[in-house]
Amino acid sequence: MLQAIEAKGLVKRFGGVTAVDGVDLQLAPGEALGLLGPNGAGKSTLLSLVTGLRPTDAGTVTIFGHPAGSDAARRAMGVTPQSAAFPPQITPRELIAYAAARHGMRPDTDRLIAAFGLQRLIDRRMAGFSGGEVRRVALALAFCGAPKLAVLDEPTTGLDSASQEAFQSLTRDYVASGGAVLLTSHHWDEIEAVCDRLTMIDRGQRVLDGTLAEMRATMRINQVSLVVDDPAPDWLPAPDADGRRHLDSADSDAVVTRLVREGVAFHDLLIRPLALKDILATLRHEA
Ligand SMILES: Nc1ncnc2c1ncn2[C@@H]1O[C@H](COP(=O)(O)OP(=O)(O)OP(=O)(O)O)[C@@H](O)[C@H]1O
Ligand SMILES: [Mg+2]
Repeated sequence: MLQAIEAKGLVKRFGGVTAVDGVDLQLAPGEALGLLGPNGAGKSTLLSLVTGLRPTDAGTVTIFGHPAGSDAARRAMGVTPQSAAFPPQITPRELIAYAAARHGMRPDTDRLIAAFGLQRLIDRRMAGFSGGEVRRVALALAFCGAPKLAVLDEPTTGLDSASQEAFQSLTRDYVASGGAVLLTSHHWDEIEAVCDRLTMIDRGQRVLDGTLAEMRATMRINQVSLVVDDPAPDWLPAPDADGRRHLDSADSDAVVTRLVREGVAFHDLLIRPLALKDILATLRHEA
């Protein structure tokens, strides 16, 4: 199958800083890939190579088989950069019409207004738009040309929670209908809500890559948490300030069976799956 994104050995340097240091990336149609990593990891720089905004220092990247930055590659994708400034006198309706025309399309403006909550904004000049309002326009622009690939840099930063949820459900529908999404996020729950795969980068290098399903399956770990009356068996960890003891285990049933068999007096037992955040911390530690 022709990949939406096929990148090999990407390198980008800024003076002495190697912002992207040999990254491979693949994204298929109908798939959402989340890019995670600390501030300065190289996420936005990597996206700028994928969108063709910057030339690579080494490596290749194609979009549906076309070199990044070519007309064909640009027409196939919609982009929301991490921060976008718009001319103050322009209205969202004009911007959307202009951006869609570059895809050779007339935009479905009514659908975009509904999807991105632009009802009261669409015909206002953008001077004075709030941060979240600008963000919603920038997202509408990414989707206005019916792209086969959406490249979104921190799409929900600055959005209120209702707009975040609307964005996540729109993105899931887009992917279900065959669209490809590459997004960056600092929000684990957003990656969990939207993405099939995630790639973590740190100092320009890929440090972790896989599907969320694989990660959950290989790391099927629960946290067992409980209060134990003294004397507690010595195989249990020390209590925290609230008197609770926490134990991560791949077999929480066995932990409970052992407690019962040994006649340990315990109460307030809680068993919860570890969050993606904790699982990633474990995987990174092993990597
Ligand atoms: N135009 C530039 N000139 C010089 N250095 C740059 C430039 N753009 C990025 N860098 C550097 O490259 C590195 C990666 O930056 P990048 O913006 O890609 O990080 P990021 O992962 O997107 O971070 P954040 O989470 O803060 O958005 C940083 O060290 C940054 O300072
Ligand atoms: Mg960034």
